[in-house]
Amino acid sequence: ITIQYPFLLLSYLLGAIPFGYILTRYFTGKNILEIGSGNVGSTNVGRVAGKKIAIATQLLDMLKGFAPVAVYLFFIDDKKIGPDFFVYCVSLATIIGHDFSIFLKFKGGKGVNTTLGASVLIAPFSVFISVAIYFIIKWRLKYVSLGSIILGIALPITELFIHGLSSTFYYLLICMVLIILLHRTNINRLLHNEELSS
Ligand code: G3P
Repeated sequence: ITIQYPFLLLSYLLGAIPFGYILTRYFTGKNILEIGSGNVGSTNVGRVAGKKIAIATQLLDMLKGFAPVAVYLFFIDDKKIGPDFFVYCVSLATIIGHDFSIFLKFKGGKGVNTTLGASVLIAPFSVFISVAIYFIIKWRLKYVSLGSIILGIALPITELFIHGLSSTFYYLLICMVLIILLHRTNINRLLHNEELSS
């Protein structure tokens, strides 16, 4: 147990690295927090710095979610029989790092990419199905944010269908609540028909 608590802190700090902010600043000199939606996520990076930097941000944001969970599951968790309670804490620490970054005065992103990266080993089917739903929504309705919100809702629901009321379901429920709360302004814009289209 001794290594697990420092590992939580490390996971938070890794999650807190604001790749969208750093890459946009480096390649365009602009402050992502002050442009477009003001979000550090890859969608807003795409608006400000273009597609390539957005894809790099997306991959890095996913990777920083994936890496701590993978390291924990493969090297630290000694049960090796599937995720135990602590792996959810590792995952949430990384996501919370991204959403409330100590390096951005506790501002941050909306957590979708990091949640996907952090959850893919814990709930692969739910992640896969939710991402598929996201693409359908984005393709039909054009709003990334609406796709993200529905993706967030689909995560626990698909888990419920596949495994019932498992601990992974409750973990994904927390992920869902975070995603919805962080999309408050988007929800408001969607309701008033003022949302940015991509
Ligand atoms: O995951 C973020 C996305 O859903 C919305 O981003 O920049 O339009 O608020 P943005």
